[in-house]
Amino acid sequence: MTSTILQDHQASGQASTDFWRTAVVYQIYPRSFADSNGDGIGDLPGITSRVPYLRSLGVDAVWLSPFYPSALADGGYDVDDHRNVDPRLGTLADFDAMVSALHAADIKVIVDIVPNHTSNRHVWFRQALTAGRGAPERDRYLFRDGRGQGGEEPPNDWESIFGGSAWAPAGDGQWYFHCFAAEQPDLNWENEEVREDFRCTVRFWADRGADGFRIDVAHGLRKDMSEPYPPWGEIADIMRPDGSHPLWDRDDVHEIYADWRRIFDSYNPPRYAVAEASVHPTRRARYAAADSLGQAFNFAMQDAGWRAEDFREVINAGLADMINTGSTTSWLLGCHDTPRVASRYGLPFEAGSLSQQVARAWLLTDGVAPYLDRALGERRARAAIMILLALPGSTYIYQGEELGLHEVGDLPPEALEDPMASRSTSEKGRDGCRVPLPWNAADPSYGFGSGSAHLPQPDWFAAYAVSVQDVDPDSTLNLYRQALALRRQVFPGSDISWVDSEPSVLHFARADGARCITNFGTEPVALPSGEVLLSSAHLDHGRLPGDATVWLRML
Ligand code: NOJ
Repeated sequence: MTSTILQDHQASGQASTDFWRTAVVYQIYPRSFADSNGDGIGDLPGITSRVPYLRSLGVDAVWLSPFYPSALADGGYDVDDHRNVDPRLGTLADFDAMVSALHAADIKVIVDIVPNHTSNRHVWFRQALTAGRGAPERDRYLFRDGRGQGGEEPPNDWESIFGGSAWAPAGDGQWYFHCFAAEQPDLNWENEEVREDFRCTVRFWADRGADGFRIDVAHGLRKDMSEPYPPWGEIADIMRPDGSHPLWDRDDVHEIYADWRRIFDSYNPPRYAVAEASVHPTRRARYAAADSLGQAFNFAMQDAGWRAEDFREVINAGLADMINTGSTTSWLLGCHDTPRVASRYGLPFEAGSLSQQVARAWLLTDGVAPYLDRALGERRARAAIMILLALPGSTYIYQGEELGLHEVGDLPPEALEDPMASRSTSEKGRDGCRVPLPWNAADPSYGFGSGSAHLPQPDWFAAYAVSVQDVDPDSTLNLYRQALALRRQVFPGSDISWVDSEPSVLHFARADGARCITNFGTEPVALPSGEVLLSSAHLDHGRLPGDATVWLRML
């Protein structure tokens, strides 16, 4: 028996062929992708040199995390100049060459816009500090008087996302607000100069060929900083269903995106945007609305445990978003902020804990406990990506997932770059998923570059190198290539129905008799008769082994 969860006519809100609705987008973390000049840091010419790889993978678009000038206080999300390239990563001419090469390979380019904050080295922030109290230069940021006689105490007890106070002293009795690191002062979005500057930034990259934008901290920007300030204890939980939080997900943030929407739509084809908005699930649809950003990341899969019921719940909620917005859901298993998926699924399941939390606790032991079953995690990660790629909507793949790469759990403290590691007492940080990619098992830094890598690569990276996986027909890389090549022809449209099955099996039907079946259990299960199109593991006498997914065409 089947139950239909979505049919084409329901989802189509607006009939459209916009590429992003069904795209597979590959996230590049530029500093860790490919290093063309041997300085240990990935760069734009490095990306250009790997366009053939991206093409052979079969992705529709790449999203580049920030490549702007930055002191790297937060991996490049501390931006000195939103309309330039960090000299260590290249030049604007290198950006243009990269875009041309990607476009020639039929791959779209998504640029990361970081509007919530600048870096503390941004010319505006330096002006704000020297201009002093009450100066218009300070109004571009969120400066407030400190408490105490000389303002020696921060204005309130609010905390930064990275741990510690959300205020840093300006040195003259005033303090500036920063949701993230102290090197990332928050901008004041009530200020018209700020608004105009970001209009310029969006146009700048669109004019240079960007096909779309990923909007960092899209749920930030508008803030109610009026007194009396609520105590942190009352606002520490940021996921509110009603837009009433003073700092996050306020209704008026969409005015900014409606303004940008006019800019996006002034291009032919219109530029698209995807919101990074960590909001209450009932509020996500607002960011995906056609008059706002148009699409919003669905992060729920990063928290799902390896259980059929967890996946079913996340899928149902994601598909409901589609019905409500006329947009498409963006599925993802990981990104540069999350412990890698293969490791999450290789750690023991803990009832009541999110999959990310288990992995973060494991990172605090430097990857020692509990035991990580690497092979199990990889099998499950292979099965998981086949589920995502069989669903209606778009899928975001984080660099290295296609290699089945694991989190590097034992990075030594002196190597850590993430501000979370130094600011927080309860997090090791996000460096373990940002270790430069292994391209060639035999080369220095495994082919990342001719020199060393800015984060140390473990010896076991050699076995995951592209050079090794290229020649192994059963490798994760080759599974991704096959899945991406097949996906569009096997799963057109957006019809999808659940097929009744035993509790440890997830089974859904798509158009034209296509099925996606995953066995979350340990014992092999029988399959309906059909043509096997792709399988994440070898079948066991025609049955689907545990921790595996198969795509079938019913006979
Ligand atoms: C979200 C980004 O994904 C993350 O890496 C960054 O630290 C914060 N935004 C602040 O920009």
